[in-house]
Amino acid sequence: MKLLSASLVLAALASPLLAAALPKEQLRDDQLQDGQSPIIIIPGKGGSQLEVKVSHPDCASDWSRVWINIYDFLPFTGHVECWAQNMELQYNTSSGESHTAPGRQFRIPGWGTTESIEYIDPSWMAYLFGDVGSYAAYLVQELTNNWGYERGVNLLGAPYDFRYSPVSHEEYFDDLKRLVEQTYLRNGRRRVLLVSHSMGGLMATFFLNHQTDDWKRSHIKGLVTLNTPWDGAMVVAQLHAAGDDWGIEIVDRNIIRDQQRSYESAYFLLPHEPTWQSDDVIVRTPQRNFTVRDYEEMFDMLGHPEGKSVLRRARPAWSNIHHPGVDLYCWHGQGVDTVDAVHYSSDQWPNGIPDTHTGDGDGTVNLKSLNACSRFAEEPGSLTDVRGFDGVNHLDLLHDAGVMERLVAVARGVDLP
Ligand SMILES: *[C@@H]1O[C@H](CO)[C@@H](O)[C@H](O)[C@H]1NC(C)=O
Ligand SMILES: *[C@@H]1O[C@H](CO)[C@@H](O)[C@H](O)[C@H]1NC(C)=O
Repeated sequence: MKLLSASLVLAALASPLLAAALPKEQLRDDQLQDGQSPIIIIPGKGGSQLEVKVSHPDCASDWSRVWINIYDFLPFTGHVECWAQNMELQYNTSSGESHTAPGRQFRIPGWGTTESIEYIDPSWMAYLFGDVGSYAAYLVQELTNNWGYERGVNLLGAPYDFRYSPVSHEEYFDDLKRLVEQTYLRNGRRRVLLVSHSMGGLMATFFLNHQTDDWKRSHIKGLVTLNTPWDGAMVVAQLHAAGDDWGIEIVDRNIIRDQQRSYESAYFLLPHEPTWQSDDVIVRTPQRNFTVRDYEEMFDMLGHPEGKSVLRRARPAWSNIHHPGVDLYCWHGQGVDTVDAVHYSSDQWPNGIPDTHTGDGDGTVNLKSLNACSRFAEEPGSLTDVRGFDGVNHLDLLHDAGVMERLVAVARGVDLP
């Protein structure tokens, strides 16, 4: 589980030291200070629990957690094939939309609370596997233990079905707008700070791009984006090509690949312009090189022609993302080896595991996409604060004491150097 695991040992080792270095005693409080903003957290892809109810005879079950239950991945349970079938989206050629497979209903637990984003698998089993189920737990615990926040009152979560891209989330954005308004009113008309991770930053920006300036001015304090892939990530191209086993070797990559590349969000997050230019090679094979302009041919050659239609649906969201029109704190890790090229030899193409090359980034997202928010600084209007954190990986930014300190400063309206 590349996204989720590697960080945990490091976080556990590093946090007592970092915490000791901060002058928190003067700042800490057991309730919010005057004017301190309530926070709504918008998680990244894979950063919230999903539940499924299955009436299909092959995999029938009552409501249960499908994202994620580490038990499903243990070979002796025989659950992984049902898991993959349950999670898969199917593209409907007549509606032009993707849907959950027949006989499956989904729901996202914990709307408005932080319950389903603190741990995506709260089980003991996940803990024993290296705490792989922990997601925003550290962030939420820090904010509640040390900075005056209270779950469900001034610290909320806005989870969504991360299999879909923003173009399919109209209902979610309506709900999010209502949640912001309720939170604002319940907290004495204090403007809300949106804090997002990874794809959550794109969801938040897409949302804010569709609100009026008046509404944003009166309701939103600002937007913090942690490790947002503004123009996609090369690791997503690798996923379409080879599947991603998240580093859990017991999982069969080919089972995983088919359901992963059925997600609309897996098209929305492909590397794209302007960060990758029209002549940048995304996937290299002996016969031909595929650039950001050649995805449709690539899907044909990978034997996955439906990919073209899903891409056409998700793609308009690429060019529609602009400055959110509120103060933007675009913070990211850097200095961690990150996949930046996918190369196939003739015997690897198309079903083998390609070779990858690495460059700078947060271990998941390439640096040039993480700091692509710099281009917003040229747009007139609000602040754009772009900041790199050395050696901090994609997930660890959520566990970083330096980030925490700045986040609280933003929520309190205090300037830090
Ligand atoms: C596909 O979409 C059409 C048009 O919206 C709808 O009538 C049909 O039921 C859908 N098929 C499936 C399998 O969902
Ligand atoms: C693919 O691009 C590389 C450079 O990035 C080049 O050396 C190679 O010849 C190209 N291959 C094909 C088949 O065009």
